[in-house]
Amino acid sequence: MSARMTEIPSVSAGESDGLAPYSNELSWPEGMAPFKVVDDGTQGDPYAHYEWMRENAPVLRAHSPVSDVWFISRYDDVRRAMRAPKVFSSQVVDPVPLTFLTLFDAPNHTRLRQVVAQAFIPKAIARFEDRVRQNAEKYLAPMLAAGGGDAVDDYAIPLSMSTISALLDVPAEDFDKMKFWSDETFSYFGRLARNAQGTGTDEQSTFEFFAYLKDTMERLYREESDSVGGHIARMWKDGLLSEKEAKELCAFVFVAGHDTTTILLANAFRVFSEQPGLLDRIRRNPDDANLFVEELARYRGTVQRASRITTEEV
Ligand code: HEM
Repeated sequence: MSARMTEIPSVSAGESDGLAPYSNELSWPEGMAPFKVVDDGTQGDPYAHYEWMRENAPVLRAHSPVSDVWFISRYDDVRRAMRAPKVFSSQVVDPVPLTFLTLFDAPNHTRLRQVVAQAFIPKAIARFEDRVRQNAEKYLAPMLAAGGGDAVDDYAIPLSMSTISALLDVPAEDFDKMKFWSDETFSYFGRLARNAQGTGTDEQSTFEFFAYLKDTMERLYREESDSVGGHIARMWKDGLLSEKEAKELCAFVFVAGHDTTTILLANAFRVFSEQPGLLDRIRRNPDDANLFVEELARYRGTVQRASRITTEEV
């Protein structure tokens, strides 16, 4: 959670302003570095930090180069904030630079979400299930034959890339290019919306990606594709979305659906290696796989933070 600079003026560490002390002013347990907005390598496994924060600093204030950031870590607090979008706004940058759904509040969020929602109903997604299953087997087979492999490079990345490519109906041969563009677009988004450092090439790559997506949507429209990409293309051609919105929304779906699932798949391998009993259980009861995925998303989730900006003092 970040606060508008105008409401809570930034002060240097140690200066008293009646607010909570900064993260680096607190007495963290021995061996635990103060929690930071940008991980410097000490927060790769953040769960011990979270546990300490929940107990000792449930509203933690940290420095960032542009404004203070407040981390809330208790379930009830997070839930309350996420359910109060008027006070905890998603629009952390103004004006919104890209049509990424997570950067909008109502009514724009409602409009954009309604436009894409149909493409995500269970019936629409079910059409892709067989293809995803085939790909899951296709990428696992060589690993099984070789007696192992790299869970991320050989399995998680190709499977999530092929899935999201199928959803958007972009050619599977463009994988490497798409992964590069998707990572660069995420970097560009992080720079614009989260003050991240960026790669130095991300802006140019992002615009190449948008141009590629525009051409792709022209094709999907002509071919009457029933993919998510085809759906967005029709919304554009029917005038419900501008060209800019359509390209950026496509890119958003790609970025939102690729890294998240790659990391979740990789985390599944990790948890299986740490707790092999779970694998035995799923072998005995294949239906438990669904429970496993739900619990994995909670226990070793992909997305560690959601950013909001406060619109009033809280
Ligand atoms: C493990 C997988 C995933 C995780 C952990 C995940 C997590 C999240 C989170 C935390 C948000 C809310 C962010 C915020 O409000 O600040 C979000 C939003 C969103 N995600 Fe995912 N996601 C996953 C997979 C996907 C996939 C596969 C797609 C698309 C194919 C997708 C599309 C979206 C969309 C469209 C939104 C915006 C929803 C809205 O604002 O109404 N996500 N996701």
